Amino acid sequence: MTTYDAIGNNYAQTRKSDPRIATALLEILKCSPASSVIDVGAGTGSYAIVLAEHGYRVLAIEPSAIMRNQAIPHAAIEWFAAFAESLPLANQSADAAIIMLAFHHCQDHQQALREIYRVVGDGQIVLFTYDPEKISEFWLTHYFPSLVADVRSTFLSIEKLKFEIKSITGAGAEVIPFPLPHNLTDSFAAVGWARPELYLDSAIRNGISSFSKFDLTELENGLFRLEEDLKTGEWNQQYGHLRQQQKYDVGYRFVFTAA
Ligand SMILES: C[S@@+](CC[C@H](N)C(=O)[O-])C[C@H]1O[C@@H](n2cnc3c(N)ncnc32)[C@H](O)[C@@H]1O
Repeated sequence: MTTYDAIGNNYAQTRKSDPRIATALLEILKCSPASSVIDVGAGTGSYAIVLAEHGYRVLAIEPSAIMRNQAIPHAAIEWFAAFAESLPLANQSADAAIIMLAFHHCQDHQQALREIYRVVGDGQIVLFTYDPEKISEFWLTHYFPSLVADVRSTFLSIEKLKFEIKSITGAGAEVIPFPLPHNLTDSFAAVGWARPELYLDSAIRNGISSFSKFDLTELENGLFRLEEDLKTGEWNQQYGHLRQQQKYDVGYRFVFTAA
């Protein structure tokens, strides 16, 4: 059973693709529509479907049945129950790979990259990931302090990720920061950077794996303090300036090889 078999029941409700992320992904992806792209850790297929609707053929790799079962069927998307570390695909059978907020879930990063490289050869690899060095700047860690250690131990640093990509594929990788829009529609961990109330909603929290890792005391404590600070105006006092911003660089990054 994977983490998302336990927490992913309502994932498709809160983790809808964000059109700004989708646009950036399509701009970065250099292969032409009609190419085949593997979507590693495809979840419920929210970005797979964007690619399919733009003409790509998508091979969606997803280990969790709970996640796969929420996917909207599409003729251009073929689903595989598999882990990144052991892809059920032939050598050089796809033109490119995308890995959207999923690489940090792989047990063995190097093996996952070796497998992706085996399947796409010199094709492009595009990751949407998080720079763990940014986490201590995010106000949410004030309420949930274990988030800092968790993110630092879960996500590879961007330098290490580039190094691993270079050693396994021989390709250099470019990095583009992706500041989050204030009205992000894909409710991942930093969705509430300017909308703290969102974290009080259990449906939003259920789609964010970090929340499933807090122990009950930290979770209850953090939610209680956040709710209190919102009522008293303390949150607005400290961080209210964020509500005026359209975008904020919480630490999300596109990391990708050349085509
Ligand atoms: C945060 S979700 C992201 C899903 C999707 N890419 C999206 O952006 O909505 C991470 C996904 O990675 C999957 N996953 C976990 N371990 C994996 C592995 N070793 N190989 C491939 N996918 C994995 C999880 O089941 C989950 O669906």
